[in-house]
Amino acid sequence: MSEPLVLGIETSCDETAVGIVRGRTLLANIISSSVEQHARFGGVVPEIASRAHLEAMQSVITQALAEAKVSLKDIDAFGVTAGPGLIGALLVGTSAASGLSLALDKPLYGVNHLSSHIAVDALDEKQILDPAIGLLVSGGHSSILKVADLASDVEVLGATIDDAAGEAFDKIARLLELDFPGGPAIDRLAQSGNSDAIDFPRGLTHANDLDEHLYDFSFSGLKTAVSRYLKQTPEAVRADVAASFQEAVVDVLLSKALSAAKAHGYESLIIAGGVAANSRLRSEATRRCEIAGIRLRTPPIGLCTDNGAMVAALTSLMVQAGASPSGVGFAADSSSGLERLLWR
Ligand code: KG4
Ligand code: ZN
Repeated sequence: MSEPLVLGIETSCDETAVGIVRGRTLLANIISSSVEQHARFGGVVPEIASRAHLEAMQSVITQALAEAKVSLKDIDAFGVTAGPGLIGALLVGTSAASGLSLALDKPLYGVNHLSSHIAVDALDEKQILDPAIGLLVSGGHSSILKVADLASDVEVLGATIDDAAGEAFDKIARLLELDFPGGPAIDRLAQSGNSDAIDFPRGLTHANDLDEHLYDFSFSGLKTAVSRYLKQTPEAVRADVAASFQEAVVDVLLSKALSAAKAHGYESLIIAGGVAANSRLRSEATRRCEIAGIRLRTPPIGLCTDNGAMVAALTSLMVQAGASPSGVGFAADSSSGLERLLWR
């Protein structure tokens, strides 16, 4: 099928999201978030997220179809996030997608959440989809992926061994008494700070860590160092702390991603996930990629966080590559990495 019309459903965490694409053209991207219902608990409550998905699903699908100006019977294939994610939340999405697939007699693809974060890059139709290193950095993930082919060959080279990058931003923001979510708040405060003011540690970059953790991340030592610095330095300039912390994160993320590109002979780097919105990460990535002769691919900020368009994008690539569908009845998997790109 040359330009399939694909509807993608994403419910792995607290966003009920539906995207519609035709080939690599984005037609609709509707998101309903339950984030406010979780705020007073200080984190996502799985049961609340699942219920919110159930309540929002029908209206999000209807809105997406209206935005794309298509009807359900026009859809050629359905895609849905099958893992990783919160199991109850995933099941709402996979059940909805299975129902649609059965009722309309159209193929269903259960796809991987991590690879769809990267696949959203394909929705820039001018983008050449050459093999790339993917740096996936959000509140839930920090991974370096080797993306030989978006639809069929994605491998995890490394991941965080403790907090995700976004989680680190959120925790440091709390120490600095900034608002949630912490990433944008630190980004803003850091603009007026000196990033060289404090030399915070770069986790897992020492020679003796590299044997075992070449492309892995650790942010817990950095968090401890910032916390200790704030306790020991009453006169600390908060903007300098924010800028120096941000610099340490950006430095480690880009050093490891670019060294992976070099080691594997890849000429492109894709940065995705909520932290890809960080202004320092974006400017420093541009600078370092230029020096290294690497082509930088960063999806628009609005498509970096969880959404349905990324699921539809990956599904569309799979349909175009001739992959056989999952069919209904596959089991969602909360803890999968990238062992599976497509569920069977
Ligand atoms: O991808 P995302 O919306 O949600 C998932 O984790 O799935 O990522 C949210 C994370 C939060 O931790 C937030 O603080 C971080 O992305 N973030 C940022 C920025 N904007 C959002 N971190 C650093 N700088 C930013 N400008
Ligand atoms: Zn995500």
